[in-house]
Amino acid sequence: MKQDMIVILDLGSHENTVLARAIRALGVYSEIYPHDITAAELKALPGVKGIIINGGPNHVIDGVEIDVLPEIYEAGFPVMAAGHDKALCDVKLAEFANDEEAIKDAVKDFVFDTCKAEANWNMKNFVADQIELVRRQVGDKKVLLALSGGVDSSVVAALLLKAIGDNLVCVHVNHGLMRKGESENVIEVFRNQLSANLIYVDATDRFLNLLEGVADPEQKRKIIGGEFIRVFEEEARKLDGIDFLGQGTIYPDIVESGTKTAKMVKSHHNVGGLPEDLHFELVEPLRQLFKDEVRACGLELGLPYEMVYRQPFPGPGLGVRCLGAITRDRLEAVRESDAILREEFAKAGLDKKVWQYFTIVPDFKSVGVRDNARSYDWPVIIRAVNTIDAMTASIEPVEWPILMKITERILNEVKTVNRVCYDMSPKPSATIEWE
Ligand code: XMP
Repeated sequence: MKQDMIVILDLGSHENTVLARAIRALGVYSEIYPHDITAAELKALPGVKGIIINGGPNHVIDGVEIDVLPEIYEAGFPVMAAGHDKALCDVKLAEFANDEEAIKDAVKDFVFDTCKAEANWNMKNFVADQIELVRRQVGDKKVLLALSGGVDSSVVAALLLKAIGDNLVCVHVNHGLMRKGESENVIEVFRNQLSANLIYVDATDRFLNLLEGVADPEQKRKIIGGEFIRVFEEEARKLDGIDFLGQGTIYPDIVESGTKTAKMVKSHHNVGGLPEDLHFELVEPLRQLFKDEVRACGLELGLPYEMVYRQPFPGPGLGVRCLGAITRDRLEAVRESDAILREEFAKAGLDKKVWQYFTIVPDFKSVGVRDNARSYDWPVIIRAVNTIDAMTASIEPVEWPILMKITERILNEVKTVNRVCYDMSPKPSATIEWE
């Protein structure tokens, strides 16, 4: 399908991604390229209709002012200059900061009138194009995909399934640190509803045995990440005739926004550290998409809303919320209290409002009273935060009646817990997770 594109050339602006998203929101595809792209490289890109040179506060690098090559102006494309402090800017985007509507207004005349770009970028076309491209790349060969149930891997799975059906082999590794019902949900949606070829590996014991007695958070992360690759690799070796590896790489993984170096586009061709003798070619159908576009793509493919809009969940899962050395009883307390919190947040409509919310169980007990007797049990800490980019975060001021309802349920239903606290700390000084 024909797709027009506005190319953004990066001169170190922090607004590159905001600008690209705004142009895409106008229905015109846009990508970001380094400032030193040559005219020949530019001409080789498909569907280019115009160029925006996006200067910023970082366009002096190591004392040298960077600029696009003079030949870019002779390449035959309409050019607009935008940015912070360039004297000759057509548009000063800095004033708009992150206001997508204002940026859309500022660039739409250039995009549509000057460049004559057509608004032909939408999810329907994107999905149709990617299905075609995947079929062309893969042919009748097989693709292996680690399906965690996160947004990106779920959307890749749904897309590959449409493209190649049974030739997609999904592997879901349950590391025992998933939230309540999560692995079951992956099986229900992908195996039962979408009839995907799904291998389910319950590796709970392997992970928990390895983690036994390990209290250091970074050590825990290393063990979980390393073992995940080993389990996946073992499954891969059991399968014959697989040439491709599906990956949920998305555009922010490829473009590093706001970089201070001249080379702003970098590739993250990280296959998760799989050994070199496993030769896979990568299939990355979401590599052009921003996160919100990935969600829209998931909906277009018919995935459930809850799956596509779920809150972020760290790779090490509940492992970093069961503080210190993980024990099965505290892990269960985290899992059960987290399920209660999620249920009550959904009932109160907070699941659509709050960015991330979960519970934590520390590795110390406190004294309480249960059934007229002294108890010595675990506390549960509730955390609910809002953020744009996870670099800073503020807490959600959850209303008392909701917190009290959640507290009552946790104390009644999770027998190893006698105390519930609410974490009031913003980031900074705290981080979002406790480990
Ligand atoms: P912090 O705790 O650093 O978290 O404020 C910021 C965001 O990152 C998530 N997070 C992780 N995600 N692996 C992940 O995939 C990890 O080891 C990890 N640690 C933190 C966290 O949930 C929050 O969204």
